[in-house]
Amino acid sequence: MKLLKSVSLFVIASLLLGSCKSNSEKNEETASVETSSLASEKGLKDYYADYFPIGVAVSPRSLEGESAELIRAEFNSLTAENVMKMGVIHPEMDRFNWGPADAIANFAKENNLKLRGHNLVWHQQAGPWIFTTEDGKTVGKEELYQRMKAHIDSVVGRYKGTIYAWDVVNEAISDKPDEFLRKSEWLDIAGEEFIMKAFEYAHEADPDAKLYYNDYNAIIPEKRDRIYKLLKMLIDNDVPIDGVGIQGHWSIFSPTETELREAMDLYASLGLDIQITELDVSLYQWEKERRELRQGESDEFTPELEAQQKEKYDMFFRVFRDYKDQLTGVTFWNVSDRYSWLDHYPVEGRKNYPLLFDEDYKRKSAYDAVAHFEDTNETEKQ
Ligand code: XIL
Repeated sequence: MKLLKSVSLFVIASLLLGSCKSNSEKNEETASVETSSLASEKGLKDYYADYFPIGVAVSPRSLEGESAELIRAEFNSLTAENVMKMGVIHPEMDRFNWGPADAIANFAKENNLKLRGHNLVWHQQAGPWIFTTEDGKTVGKEELYQRMKAHIDSVVGRYKGTIYAWDVVNEAISDKPDEFLRKSEWLDIAGEEFIMKAFEYAHEADPDAKLYYNDYNAIIPEKRDRIYKLLKMLIDNDVPIDGVGIQGHWSIFSPTETELREAMDLYASLGLDIQITELDVSLYQWEKERRELRQGESDEFTPELEAQQKEKYDMFFRVFRDYKDQLTGVTFWNVSDRYSWLDHYPVEGRKNYPLLFDEDYKRKSAYDAVAHFEDTNETEKQ
């Protein structure tokens, strides 16, 4: 990073120039310059200190080198992109893979970052063992609940006191407008009740953790209303739920400001906390199914696209700031355009540029729109 380079150049220069000074004098001077220039550079988390934490989804590898520096400078919350999902952290009934998840938890602790847990119950990336008996048959409902409870107890229990919020159930609502819950092994074996059980077990495992239901396309009116129905059902049944996670896999095309505000109002009317849990702003229209790159399909990040993306980011954060009383966090899904899961989904090998930092970890123009806003709180105070 430029900043680090200039700091180290300064350190070298001051060591050379200051050769006539005493050692302690030199150290003091270098140390104070180093901290003051680093501290004077504000990051996203600082611009939003009066609003909500700014998080980022990470892999253990992104916690090294320049990427780690960027994370420390800009963010104050982390989510594990993959390594806390059941299939990774609990690959077999009697085997846990704590190493990668612990690496993220330790980095969060060392750097004083908040940590979200993602996720406990999902139809994807679940260890296949959970649905199958030793002789290859589908487990029964009671057995599935026992296994689910054992999983939740172990994972939530291990990070108790470190993870402050969990995505307990992920993406349970169907993509089909005429279907309420998505078809899944959870639903097939256990029925609708699996959602409530997951929240109950998570609450038992850590009564202090904030518990979230998390989903995508949560702004699209039709799906939004089915998510609302589920949330209302959970609340009416006294299920221990604290919030709704709006994933925020959006694009330069959608959602509109009106759609976003309407959804925020609707979710807020339930008295739940809201988080944007997986924000990125794709350059392409949303598609669910994977497909091949089409011939002649361009993935160039043109100045026009950059301007459109900046405008969209500007609007999203303007709305977020207006909802700061309900919004308890905004998390980006990946660190920079050097790597995004959208480079592989839905079209393998079609480059996307959905984040606020470019492939060299430099701030994009959308960053300025997000960071440099007029603070209406300040204006009100004056
Ligand atoms: C994605 C990861 O980013 C990919 O690396 C992985 O291959 C698939 O999952 N909704 C979610 C996230 O809740 O867990 C998904 O993460 C993206 C969509």
